[in-house]
Order: sequence, then structure tokens, then C-alpha cells
Amino acid sequence: MQVKDSIVLVTGANRGLGRAWARLLLEAGARKVYAGARDPRGIGLPDVIPLELDITRPEQVRRAAAECADVTLLVNNAGIVRGGHVFDDEAADRARQELDTNLFGTLAMCRAFAPVLGANGGGAIVNVLSVLSWISIPGAATYAMSKAATWSMTNGVRIAVKPQGTQVLGLHVAFMDTDMTAGIDAPKATPVDVVAQAIAALEAGQEEVLADALTRDVKRGLSLERGVYLDAAG
Ligand SMILES: NC(=O)c1ccc[n+]([C@@H]2O[C@H](COP(=O)([O-])OP(=O)(O)OC[C@H]3O[C@@H](n4cnc5c(N)ncnc54)[C@H](OP(=O)(O)O)[C@@H]3O)[C@@H](O)[C@H]2O)c1
Repeated sequence: MQVKDSIVLVTGANRGLGRAWARLLLEAGARKVYAGARDPRGIGLPDVIPLELDITRPEQVRRAAAECADVTLLVNNAGIVRGGHVFDDEAADRARQELDTNLFGTLAMCRAFAPVLGANGGGAIVNVLSVLSWISIPGAATYAMSKAATWSMTNGVRIAVKPQGTQVLGLHVAFMDTDMTAGIDAPKATPVDVVAQAIAALEAGQEEVLADALTRDVKRGLSLERGVYLDAAG
């Protein structure tokens, strides 16, 4: 998938990684960028087309697919983290919220846009995943559950859209310097670097990006006799 002349929809494009996606895609030659946001007044990027889009609201997802019928690249970036331990009283509620957005919202977007991408020649879907698709950490156990499920969903979507020639790229990353990790003291990748890697991977026809050293170590560690997911990571 070549970014030049592509027509893109980015979810959660008002801040963090999504904003970096919207800006860098334009710089890389995308012809049109729809910037989805729950409150599109907060987008503040020139040259994008603001789009009201809460991915957990089916009517907004349906409307986006109808209004953005020229999309050739869908970037499913929107996501939430609620934090907390797996046995907290609130854990099940947090997990439901995280699954609603990270898994079911992203799945709804893939489903709504698969026919659009197919009609436009195949195109591509990027799903923003995490190193926590493969390991859990005490402070974000339910988020890790949601990203593991979203990784599995991404694999299912990849198989479903392969016959129509749609590339599906899973983007796994550890800590990035965005609002989501404010207050976490750890080495962080910059959104710009992560998006640059993902664009290069898209253009090289790849299906997975491991955007930092920790993520690459964890992926490699899955196949060790004692898989890395058996021990606490942080
Ligand atoms: N930061 C990290 O270390 C890290 C690591 C691995 C993966 N990720 C993933 O990277 C993606 C981007 O995260 P980020 O770091 O940029 O986080 P962020 O700064 O917290 O931004 C999250 C974005 O998602 C949007 N969003 C949340 N729920 C939404 C919904 N229902 N519909 C539409 N938009 C929604 C937010 O919109 P509002 O402004 O309206 O809240 C915001 O634009 C997420 O999928 C996240 O899980 C982040």
C-alpha cells in the first residue's frame, strides 16, 4: 500500500499517536485525511477533514463509512486505558469499557470499512495494538486483556479481507510519549517515530510492526521454553 495519493481515515486523530498519524500521512503525500474524533472541534490540524466519530457508537460508525466512501487506508488508532489490578472491585467494569472501545469499536470500524476498501481496490487497515497484546502488567491488566483480544481480532480480520486484497497491519508498541502514559516513568518512543515505522512497513507490504526494542524482545520471548508472559514485566 502506497501512502502517496491515498485517502485515509484516522480514528482518535485529535491528540497523541492519532494526531501524529494525520500529520505524517499528509506529509507523506496522502491526498485526503479524514480526522475522526469524538469532539472534532479539538482537532486543530489544517488540511484535514474533521469527522465526528465515536467508534463505540454504531450510528456514527455507519455514517462515517457512508460519508467517507473513498477511503483506501483505515487507521484504527483510537483506544483507552483504565488501569488497575486484575482483582480490583472495578476490574470487570474497566475491562468492559476497554473492550467496548479497543476491541468492539475497532471491530465495528473494520467491518464497516471492509466493503469500502474492497470497492476502492483493496487498500489497507492499520490496527494499533501493544506489547500488552502478549504480556500483562499489574497496573494495566484489563487493558492488556483488551489488546490481546484486539490482536486476535486483527488476525481474524486479516484473513477475512485477504481475498479482496486488503493489507492488514498490526502495530505493536510499548510505551509512547502521549497523554496515555503521562505519569509513567519509563523509556518512551515518540509518536512520530512510531508512525514513520508504520508507514514504511505499510509501503513494504508488511503485516506487523514491532516498533521498539521491548516489543521485539517480548515477541521473541513468546517462543522461549519459559515464555515471557509467565513473569511480571513491570
Ligand atoms: N501511549 C502508549 O504508550 C501506547 C502504547 C501502546 C499502544 N497504544 C495505543 O495507541 C493508540 C493511541 O493512544 P495514545 O497513546 O495516542 O493515547 P491518548 O493520547 O490517550 O489518545 C487516545 C485517542 O483515542 C481517542 N478515543 C478514545 N476513545 C474513543 C472512542 N470511543 N472513539 C473515538 N476516539 C476515541 C481519544 O479521544 P478523546 O480525546 O475524545 O479522548 C484520543 O484521541 C491507542 O490504541 C493505545 O491503546 C498506546
